[in-house]
Amino acid sequence: MSNSASEKILTLRKIIRDHDYKYYILNQPTITDYDYDRLLNELKELENKYPNLITPDSPTQRVGSDLTNEFKNIHHSIPMLSLSNAYSLEELRDFDRRVKDGLSEGSIPEYVCELKIDGVSISINYENGLLKYAATRGDGTIGEDVTQNVKTIRSLPLIVTPKEDLHDILNFEVRGEIYFEKEEFQKLNAEREANGEKLFANPRNSAAGTIKLLDPKQVSKRPLRVFLYYFFTDEYAVQSQDENLKILKKLGFRINENFRVCGTIAEVEEFCNKWEVTRENLPYEIDGVVIKVNSIQHQKNLGNIAKAPKWAVAYKFKPQQKTTLLKNITWQVGRTGAITPVAELEPVLLAGSTISRATLHNPDEIERKNLMIGDFVLIEKGGDVIPKIVSVDFSLRQDSVTKIEIPEQCPVCKGPLVKNVDEVALYCVNRDCPAQLKGKLIHFTSRTAMNIEGLGDSLIETLVDNNFLNTFTDIYDLKSKRELLINLERMGEKRVDNLLTSIENSKSTPFPKVLFALGIRYVGAGAANKLAMHFKSIDKLISASHEEIEAINEIGPRISSSVKDYFSDKENLRIIDSLKKHNINFFIDSEISISNTLEGKSFLVTGTLVKFTRDEIKDAIQKNGGKPVTSLSKKTDYLIVGDNPGSKVQKATELGIPILDEDTFVQMIEGKSNV
Ligand code: IVH
Repeated sequence: MSNSASEKILTLRKIIRDHDYKYYILNQPTITDYDYDRLLNELKELENKYPNLITPDSPTQRVGSDLTNEFKNIHHSIPMLSLSNAYSLEELRDFDRRVKDGLSEGSIPEYVCELKIDGVSISINYENGLLKYAATRGDGTIGEDVTQNVKTIRSLPLIVTPKEDLHDILNFEVRGEIYFEKEEFQKLNAEREANGEKLFANPRNSAAGTIKLLDPKQVSKRPLRVFLYYFFTDEYAVQSQDENLKILKKLGFRINENFRVCGTIAEVEEFCNKWEVTRENLPYEIDGVVIKVNSIQHQKNLGNIAKAPKWAVAYKFKPQQKTTLLKNITWQVGRTGAITPVAELEPVLLAGSTISRATLHNPDEIERKNLMIGDFVLIEKGGDVIPKIVSVDFSLRQDSVTKIEIPEQCPVCKGPLVKNVDEVALYCVNRDCPAQLKGKLIHFTSRTAMNIEGLGDSLIETLVDNNFLNTFTDIYDLKSKRELLINLERMGEKRVDNLLTSIENSKSTPFPKVLFALGIRYVGAGAANKLAMHFKSIDKLISASHEEIEAINEIGPRISSSVKDYFSDKENLRIIDSLKKHNINFFIDSEISISNTLEGKSFLVTGTLVKFTRDEIKDAIQKNGGKPVTSLSKKTDYLIVGDNPGSKVQKATELGIPILDEDTFVQMIEGKSNV
């Protein structure tokens, strides 16, 4: 790796973040989408070349793309575009004007209005009538092969038969939206709760999570559904979007029947208004209406801008709101000891889920909103997860409402609370507070930190309550308590062994993530990465001065003081020492090329590995001269196989590609084996 590449990466990230800020925060973009995409692509290319420089805070790691290493990539021969949004009827009329301006004089566009299903988009290819493959949207150009999972959707034909009145079309692509019905989503979450698993925030997230499960058998247990709205074939020239829908239906696909062909924008508005109020009655979630120019010829004339067509727009509904009773306020203790008020509400159904709690950010918000227990409050759930209290409905306030008391002691450990200067939050300062410990452990084990699978919130709770866990180090001593763990409720041998394996694997977590996992106040993933990359080891960071820390770009006095405070605490140093004894990574191995034993060879990895994380094995392949690849072909030199490998093993056998386990791979690096 050249220094200039890493410098270039840092510069690009900074430029892109600046543009993100101008675009999303200031609403004042200073470059075109096209130029922005070019910058992002340049960064992506560099990071692909030097994957060990990818950090969790890179703009490339945002959820714009849903690619993971687990599925084969599929190139969309027709890009999967996204839609521009209209947030008001005025913006909708602007769209109508733009369409009319874009068409030749006198052309009157017709529109098709369709419900905007809140799910995940999917593209499905049929060859000779057979469902050949299905791919997620990915970044719009490359998606992931989720064929086996999509095939579990009962309403989707695996084969279509020739229809004479449809010119016997048998080779085509369909696209649509995969989703869960509201009721099914609630059932799924109830089961997850009973199993102590993390809940899905909304039906869309649960559909997105389900379609990417590794095991199609698990997928088939969940009642996914699909509506199709797009049809493309080389075999016949379709004239309009409503013809597309008719063809889809005739071929046996499920379409959403609530669409309307509109001759004027006034009719479109009427359609939008109608569904904005009646959407609650639908069994599935919609978040708007998609308006498409009906004539395919008109669509072609209008064309696309950047990644969205000019001939379609998504009219987005306002976030759903409901009024409900504020029954009580409870106080939650976070990992830093911050105490936050939680509103306990009379449960109401809102945007597909039952809401019974909402977070208030700090005690000041109670005062600002003039909240009292017994008030009726307006709650809102935007596109995402946590509902918020918008305001109090004072017209409904009764005399019986009571004042909300701000606690004087920690609600969990009863220790004293303090308010830091310049801060609105209240803090519990008892270091032994079990609530703080649970929060710290949840953070330490989370996916973006040590990534210990199987150690979810409720198990952490049980383990802390049963005195199994008092510090981070205790996690690494759990293996000596295997029998005791097996006897815990809902555990059993398999779950415990998987957990212990995952704990063992976490020892190879790279230093930047370990530093982030410690949970030093104000040291998020980005700052942890900068500190780790700069100092290269925890010992150098511990002995660094304020000035040395602040010399790092974007690290200011707030972070440096917090870091110094953290390391001046003897208990924290003791924990780091004992983590070191468990071989947790507290330094960066800056050596890039270790050997060239894998020179010129390509490797595909499949299944769950024990010795390496996916990133590490990729790194190991590259550091030793090899090339990690993401799909299997005749040209692949080796397949590295972990547990539960799936279908790739058979394919490799058929192609005569040698299969290695992790140990053989390690021997190969060391030059002790050349299979
Ligand atoms: S058309 C170029 N029609 O909304 C046209 N999209 O915000 C692309 N969606 O990625 C899509 N219902 O996942 C279309 N009736 C509908 C839709 C729909 C939901 C989703 C789709 C798309 C996203 C764009």
